[in-house]
Amino acid sequence: MKILVTGGAGFIGSNLCDLLLEKGEEVSVIDDLSTGSLDNISHLFNNPGFNYVIDTILNEQLMEDLISSCDCIVHLAAAVGVKHVLENPLSSIETNILGTETALKLANKYKKKILVASTSEVYGKHTHAPLKEDDNLIYGPPSTMRWSYAASKLVDEFTALAYHRTKKLDTIIIRCFNTIGPRQTGMYGMVVPRFIQQALRDDPITVYGDGKQTRTFTYVGDVVEAIYRLIKCKKGSGEVVNIGGTEEISIADLAQKIKELIGSNSEIVFIPYDQAYGKDFEDMMRRVPSLEKLESLIDFVPKTPLDEILQHTIEYFRARAV
Ligand SMILES: NC(=O)c1ccc[n+]([C@@H]2O[C@H](COP(=O)([O-])OP(=O)(O)OC[C@H]3O[C@@H](n4cnc5c(N)ncnc54)[C@H](O)[C@@H]3O)[C@@H](O)[C@H]2O)c1
Repeated sequence: MKILVTGGAGFIGSNLCDLLLEKGEEVSVIDDLSTGSLDNISHLFNNPGFNYVIDTILNEQLMEDLISSCDCIVHLAAAVGVKHVLENPLSSIETNILGTETALKLANKYKKKILVASTSEVYGKHTHAPLKEDDNLIYGPPSTMRWSYAASKLVDEFTALAYHRTKKLDTIIIRCFNTIGPRQTGMYGMVVPRFIQQALRDDPITVYGDGKQTRTFTYVGDVVEAIYRLIKCKKGSGEVVNIGGTEEISIADLAQKIKELIGSNSEIVFIPYDQAYGKDFEDMMRRVPSLEKLESLIDFVPKTPLDEILQHTIEYFRARAV
């Protein structure tokens, strides 16, 4: 099968390319390198099953060429990361809404299966657990720009579901919860790579807010396995499905854990949200997924323990000398 991975030079995308090639699939990538990197895929350049193009998914003619000649699309390209989205609010909305609309329109034109990456951010301000795919969604006002990422991904979900309902497009939407592992960069606000890099340098580990907000973390190897099974799965068309881990930890405890695993002398410091992100920032206090639907579709749920994921990620950053 020939699979087009949009955003394939990114963190999840490049790990997915590795898995797809290992499974004997052919892979094409489109990526504009806005947050991705050629370093993530350069080891694949000599692989005959791999090709890539550096361009934007907003280039409709190019997307048409790529989609018409593949069997299936994994649509990961997006403006990602709270910090990146807050710094680039307009281009983020354009990429996330217009880019996804282009991918869906062309997937429908050529009748290709498309998996669309959404996010746990769409759940908004819930504090109950676990979050189920049919839960109501609760957002703050549009003046609080952090919700634009969630809202743009929600529009992607509506658009994909509308194509499914009106045109029978074979599409599945994944809501990824915090995914971590090798090749994730700390440059755009992702917490784990940022903490690891700070701890390796013995710099202060900067926790935003009071650190009581909790998250679950999923190993990227588990996420790409789930994506692979979902694109091979005959069930699930027209469904939204969570992909995440279940080991809940507060961000303050995460900072302490990373400090201990590294044996770092870093001090843990708490930075008010307005200093970290500017005024009008709201955080989500808790995010734990229900994985019932995922398990029922593909008989697999992410299980790699947090300590093991952190060890892999720390080794990756150590090898790169931070
Ligand atoms: N990592 C997570 O924890 C997480 C959580 C929820 C959802 N997601 C979703 O998973 C997907 C992949 O995220 P990631 O963590 O690998 O982030 P990433 O930033 O590493 O990957 C996104 C990739 O898309 C590329 N890109 C952005 N705009 C583009 C454009 N206009 N044209 C072509 N390429 C473009 C970037 O260069 C990057 O390589 C995204 O859709 C994201 O919303 C990720």
